[in-house]
Amino acid sequence: MIGHLLTWHYSPQPCCLLRCQPTLCLALFTVTTVRSRVNQSEDISQVDYGAKLWACNFCYQRNQFPPTYAGISEVNQPAELLPQFSTIEYVVQRGPQMPLVFLYVVDTCMEDEDLQALKESLQMSLSLLPPTSLVGLITFGRMIQVHELGCDGISKSYVFRGTKDLNAKQLQEMLGLTKPTAAQAGRGPQAPQPPLSNRFLQPVQKIDMNLTDLLGELQRDPWPVTQGKRPLRSLGSAMSIAVGLLECTFPNTGARIMTFIGGPATQGPGMVVGDELKTPIRSWHDIEKDNAKFMKKGTKHYEALASRASTNGHIIDIYACALDQTGLLEMKCCSNHTGGYMVMADSFNTSLFKQTFQRVFTKDVAGAFKMAFAGTLEIKTSREIKISGAIGPCVSLNAKGPCVSENEIGTGGTSQWKICGLDHNTTLAVYFEVVNQHNAPIPQGGRGAVQYVTQYQHSSGQKRIRVTTTARNWADAGTQIQSIAASFDQEASAILMARLAVYRAETEEGPDVLRWLDRQLIRLCQKFGDYHKDDPNSFRFSETFSLYPQFMFHLRRSPFLQVFNNSPDESSYYRHQFMRQDLTQSLIMIQPILYAYSFNGPPEPVLLDSSSILPDRILLMDTFFQILIYHGETVSQWRKAGYQEMPEYENFRHLLQAPADDAQEILHSRFPMPRYIDTEFGGSQARFLLSKVNPSQTHNNMYAWGQESGAPILTDDVSLQVFMDHLKKLAVSSAA
Ligand SMILES: *[C@@H]1O[C@H](CO)[C@@H](O)[C@H](O)[C@H]1NC(C)=O
Ligand SMILES: *[C@@H]1O[C@H](CO)[C@@H](O)[C@H](O)[C@H]1NC(C)=O
Ligand SMILES: *[C@@H]1O[C@H](CO)[C@@H](O)[C@H](O)[C@H]1NC(C)=O
Ligand SMILES: *[C@@H]1O[C@H](CO)[C@@H](O)[C@H](O)[C@H]1NC(C)=O
Ligand SMILES: *[C@@H]1O[C@H](CO)[C@@H](O)[C@H](O)[C@H]1NC(C)=O
Repeated sequence: MIGHLLTWHYSPQPCCLLRCQPTLCLALFTVTTVRSRVNQSEDISQVDYGAKLWACNFCYQRNQFPPTYAGISEVNQPAELLPQFSTIEYVVQRGPQMPLVFLYVVDTCMEDEDLQALKESLQMSLSLLPPTSLVGLITFGRMIQVHELGCDGISKSYVFRGTKDLNAKQLQEMLGLTKPTAAQAGRGPQAPQPPLSNRFLQPVQKIDMNLTDLLGELQRDPWPVTQGKRPLRSLGSAMSIAVGLLECTFPNTGARIMTFIGGPATQGPGMVVGDELKTPIRSWHDIEKDNAKFMKKGTKHYEALASRASTNGHIIDIYACALDQTGLLEMKCCSNHTGGYMVMADSFNTSLFKQTFQRVFTKDVAGAFKMAFAGTLEIKTSREIKISGAIGPCVSLNAKGPCVSENEIGTGGTSQWKICGLDHNTTLAVYFEVVNQHNAPIPQGGRGAVQYVTQYQHSSGQKRIRVTTTARNWADAGTQIQSIAASFDQEASAILMARLAVYRAETEEGPDVLRWLDRQLIRLCQKFGDYHKDDPNSFRFSETFSLYPQFMFHLRRSPFLQVFNNSPDESSYYRHQFMRQDLTQSLIMIQPILYAYSFNGPPEPVLLDSSSILPDRILLMDTFFQILIYHGETVSQWRKAGYQEMPEYENFRHLLQAPADDAQEILHSRFPMPRYIDTEFGGSQARFLLSKVNPSQTHNNMYAWGQESGAPILTDDVSLQVFMDHLKKLAVSSAA
């Protein structure tokens, strides 16, 4: 198996901007053609400048250059042929420029403090939207209100009972919605399309004042909640109405449904818990015992919504802010299948929510949102490579074809996927299979090529086509194992395996997934390690593999595979984030970064190990989800004694300040904003640090280490050392 992590990091200016027809297939050039230019004969077989022909690496045909490329020559090459551009983005000039649609779906069953904070955030967000974008508002509690906007100062809304699910047709009749008419849709592509709107979705520039007022006047759900009950919250139906509204009015246009919820759905379709407070919402324990009454039915409701939304290219974001669970486990597919955001916080009045929500609307230097809409990804491969599948925030477009493998990994059986929402950091893991090795050996010195074609709606409304082409040398696994080992990318491989493990963990039992992961690791050690049979001490791993076992060790302990100590909502949240982030962020999630600050020198990265916890050190730990500052025992005593206030201990004040400043820097840039924790030796929150570090010194062997060398960890987990010893034993065993 081979794999690739595809991230849409892009520079503010696309690396190359060409005006082109949408049908242009010039991007089928590969980097291969360029790299092999040293070999004249080969070059000529690929690109014939005289005849203006080129040979495609994917369809194996010779193709004529498009007329706009008439001027090319060996000294005047188009960007597609330059080796430094492995990604080219084309801006499609034709076709309608669609407005963006933002539909707010707002829970009103929450404390006044939360509602107030939420209202302010929503009002703020209106000022960040592009003026021509369309906005709509649905509020819900026991009932659901679809607000009519722009009705001359009179606020009018349509009220729905939350206990019944409406299909798109019923909703269309009740709200009097119309699809874009055939006449509008059939206009020539050159004719600018009038912005399609209706009473529920209006251009923000027209109604922002009135909508700001309307939001300001929102009240808590007026229905009384008796003692011992939860409020009746029609979340499932409200989301269904939102999906239906866009389905009827803006199919296949970039749109975001932004859902803000303060608690679980307690009635109607999609409910996840009853209204009796004495019956708690399902736990992992209940799920294991098959005792989660509403889970299956609820999940089914949200899966159906996710599928309708993704069919239409619409994104569903979920902002769940409550102390208890809200049903993210049941709702996760709504965000996942549509490329939407999922954000979890304790309250709407936290900087975690406020800052994160604001960051959704960040713009790049060109003034465009960093979000993209209605994407599709198509993968093309040269004939020795078949596509097994993809794991990430996508759905299959069921495009079969010769390059699709029968061995599915993740979402497979297709060469095309839909990604309704994507941003710079969205990352898909793509898995491939190498075929035909036996009956038709891969030519020595040949290359395998893979091309990724992503089409999407840019936030400016433009359609763009982004093409990334990669080519790799073939090597024979029998005779050239050295060169395969030398080019092994252990970080990317660890993340590709981790995604696969988390994907399995969504449907299989935890211990089975761990066993599978261990077997894969042992096989890797057997294949690429250097050892004598049955002699564990002889085992050596080359440089390119040296960190890999450690990544697997931390992955096994991570919240992505261990659900103990987390609620089902928390597990869903962590997994959701892990399955869409890029390589760097994913590595931090598996193996958090630890920095040490002391008087002994500048801050330095230290091992994620209990031996790094020393009395005279401050540690900064970044787990992606949390930024934690831990003050060692001595430092914490000095801090309590207030030395930092005294002028003669100014250097101590600086020592305290340094990690706090570094933490701020991360807090200001990351999405979603992490939780900030300030703790110390003996502090209750120090458990977050202690649960992450390798327990190299546990209470069983701490005395052997003496008091000086770090804090003992109270755990029954095995340490990295024990893990490695076992691994070596198994890898070299002739019985294996
Ligand atoms: C150049 O191409 C020819 C024909 O494809 C091939 O036989 C030869 O080995 C190539 N030379 C190099 C240096 O790759
Ligand atoms: C939100 O929290 C801040 C700080 O905790 C507090 O000062 C403010 O009053 C809260 N907002 C509301 C609306 O209660
Ligand atoms: C906004 O409200 C004002 C007064 O409340 C009203 O006169 C105006 O018509 C409203 N605008 C729209 C677009 O509804
Ligand atoms: C999200 O959905 C995709 C596609 O179905 C799947 O590959 C992935 O495992 C899901 N992720 C989570 C966290 O459920
Ligand atoms: C992407 O990742 C970078 C680096 O962590 C972060 O600064 C940025 O906010 C992220 N953007 C999104 C939209 O996730």
